[in-house]
Amino acid sequence: MTYQNIETLSWIGDQHGWLRMIDQTLLPTELREIDCRQVETVWEAIKKLRVRGAPAIGIAAAYGVCIGLQTLPENADFDSFKTRLNEVGDYLASSRPTAVNLFWALNRMKAKAESCYELKNVAKIIDVLFSEAKAIHEEDRRICRLIGMFGQELFKDGDALLTHCNAGGLATADYGTALAVFFAATEKGKTIRVFADETRPLLQGARLTAWELMQRGIDVTLICDSMAAMVMKQGKINGVVVGADRIAANGDTANKIGTYSVAISAKVHGVPFYVAAPVSTFDLTLADGNGIPIEERDPEEICYGFGKRTAPEGVNVYNPAFDVTPAEFITGIITEHGIISPVNRENITKIVQS
Ligand code: MRU
Repeated sequence: MTYQNIETLSWIGDQHGWLRMIDQTLLPTELREIDCRQVETVWEAIKKLRVRGAPAIGIAAAYGVCIGLQTLPENADFDSFKTRLNEVGDYLASSRPTAVNLFWALNRMKAKAESCYELKNVAKIIDVLFSEAKAIHEEDRRICRLIGMFGQELFKDGDALLTHCNAGGLATADYGTALAVFFAATEKGKTIRVFADETRPLLQGARLTAWELMQRGIDVTLICDSMAAMVMKQGKINGVVVGADRIAANGDTANKIGTYSVAISAKVHGVPFYVAAPVSTFDLTLADGNGIPIEERDPEEICYGFGKRTAPEGVNVYNPAFDVTPAEFITGIITEHGIISPVNRENITKIVQS
């Protein structure tokens, strides 16, 4: 099995089928897929980061709704359908709080169901929801290609670009958001070199981005997060491109913890800092980044490394999984509708609603 012939997420069979996904916790040493046949397994896969990255979480949740509805008896009445749909949606929404794509996908599934309520035909509505989940999945493929196409125009042959965490094909249906920019530039014949931050504590940069770029033949150099500022000072970086988990109406952007430090370093060293994200990652209900819920994860994640305990027993630990980069640090946001620059409320509204 190679990465070229397997998908981050795939649905097996008809609407009575199941969700298959690469278990990203095993990479880079093992490329293995797992099957999710119950909504609880989908929830656990999202929670434990077997599937992770904002768009991929949204796709998994949409399929999770279909899986959750499979427990309804064949002759279920309309009220039991509505109750189960709400139950499954609320349950999946409790898996992770920051990536808005999760809630966007669940709301989209719910709205689709509601638009069919007048049919009062449970089997038909379940059918429509299955098609909707597939549409969310397929749309993400096209969106990532468009992000790549717009983003690659920002960079020239020979550029060295830095990224943080993993915003690649593993974090989306395929191709990625930030990494799409590198893939598309390469496809245009530009030689691009990438510096990948290892991304403590869960090492998505080392385990996933470095692996994914190597799989796709891109020149990648792995650095520790703490090295990014020096590498920029040495003039080795022409631009930064990162993904996003939630972007507020003014452009403040939540992404993997450490992104904010990278943005500060980029600003100090005059390096352009870009965010690449689909329109589904914008949360226009939030005026600014202060309202973005930040996931705090298990303290154990930063107490273990090198296969052993690396912090004293009983130490106090703070483990926020995301931070918020203020809009003024962001040169532009690359979306499937085009590039938002300068990043401000007016330009965001124009592009997001176009
Ligand atoms: O905790 P993770 O691995 O889900 O965090 C992922 C990120 O922060 C990504 O950069 C973001 O979701 C963009 S993915 C295209």
